[in-house]
Amino acid sequence: MSSSAQIGVTGLAVMGRNLARNFARNGYAVALHNRTAARTHALVEEFGSEGDFVATETAKEFVAALERPRRLVIMVKAGEPTDAVIQEFAPLLEPGDMIIDGGNAHFADTRRRERDLREQGIHFVGAGISGGEEGALHGPSIMPGGPVESYDSLGPMLEKISAKAADGAPCVTHVGPDGAGHFVKMVHNGIEYADMQLIGEAYQLLRDVAGYSPAQIADIFRTWNTGRLDSYLIEITAEVLSHVDAATGEPFVDVVQDQAEQKGTGRWTVQIALDLGVPVSGIAEAVFARSLSGHSALREASRGLAGPTASALSESEASAFADQVEQALYASKIVSYTQGFHEISAGSAEYDWNIDLGAVASIWRGGCIIRAAFLDRIRAAYDARADLPSLLSDDTFAQEIGAAQDDWRAVLVAAVQQGVPTPGFAAALAYYDALRAERLPAALTQGQRDFFGAHTYRRTDREGSFHTLWGGDRSEVSG
Ligand code: 6PG
Repeated sequence: MSSSAQIGVTGLAVMGRNLARNFARNGYAVALHNRTAARTHALVEEFGSEGDFVATETAKEFVAALERPRRLVIMVKAGEPTDAVIQEFAPLLEPGDMIIDGGNAHFADTRRRERDLREQGIHFVGAGISGGEEGALHGPSIMPGGPVESYDSLGPMLEKISAKAADGAPCVTHVGPDGAGHFVKMVHNGIEYADMQLIGEAYQLLRDVAGYSPAQIADIFRTWNTGRLDSYLIEITAEVLSHVDAATGEPFVDVVQDQAEQKGTGRWTVQIALDLGVPVSGIAEAVFARSLSGHSALREASRGLAGPTASALSESEASAFADQVEQALYASKIVSYTQGFHEISAGSAEYDWNIDLGAVASIWRGGCIIRAAFLDRIRAAYDARADLPSLLSDDTFAQEIGAAQDDWRAVLVAAVQQGVPTPGFAAALAYYDALRAERLPAALTQGQRDFFGAHTYRRTDREGSFHTLWGGDRSEVSG
């Protein structure tokens, strides 16, 4: 077998298969490998005409089919299967070869694998890939980490197969060393959870407070999709809401069990944020909302709890309310992205990744699940000022959120009065109000901590730390 393939893909489930086809359709010779060879041959049989595929059956054959330095993409389940594949291939590789992990790996695992393989001279590139099956085939957003040298030879290939933003820029960049790519993909998914939760809350408000049907709400989402909320998730929401179940003739959304599942990346985003001390309350509420939805016994046992009596809105009131919900959704969305970018910047500082936040926003403009017109404006905000302390410090976003706040509050008042749960909207508004507050009750918290545990506090008027002798004469001493 000649070593002619420019890239190899092992793990040919739907994401791996589509990624391999994407490389081939872009003119690259692609070596294929899968644990069960039947899948490899099926791919060639079905899609062989799309490009130059080299089907291989054993790990040795696969490695031998690759030109040097070898570029080997692994598309297997995150966790142990990834380690098993690395263990299988690493002994067959040489210094300078690259292993690219395109799964949703935890960035800490990516850091460990990168470190271990570096000793062998192998470049390990943890690459977040977003866009689902369609994205993998037609152009995903790609977030590669790993050694920067690997990007010299890998980058142009990834640029070719990636999605392109509206201005033609490829949706891929070298995010940073070791686990930076998977970290950014993790936060992408956390933001994805938040976006989906906020959209869900908007839907439920339009249904339960405004009284619209799923088909009418689909139309409202279609209209929103022509404005500043223009995004893939808003677009598909309209599709899902207008879909009618063939078996019952009911709206599809009414026949699906209301228990949201998750594979873990949103949860990781919150776990890591807790470790980094970054308040990602909107993302956390989205993760909790999914887990609450799954507690069927708890929900069943709580059905009889008292709630307010619903009051119907007139047609014109409903329409005005829908406009307010758009404001609340947009404002809350600004907050989730603010929190997500804060987490990326904190991760970057913690691990010395030097991540360019504007570049991250730029590569999320196309291909990925959270792609949105909005991301171009985030890119512009960071391009104008790379050290922006927060998205809310950008004048344009600050003005927009300021203009939305009255409606945002009104929507939450209606939600509370009508008993519609809106944890995402509420957490976002609380974050906004907390950030802009002159004084927070944290001063009282410090007083309590000092009272029961002599944990000390700092004063507003003097340097140093202090303790009050609460059990004595309540005089103050240095802490
Ligand atoms: C993407 C998606 C993808 C996947 C999520 C779904 O960017 O293409 O985020 O990675 O669909 O893992 O996550 P949950 O199953 O946790 O909702």
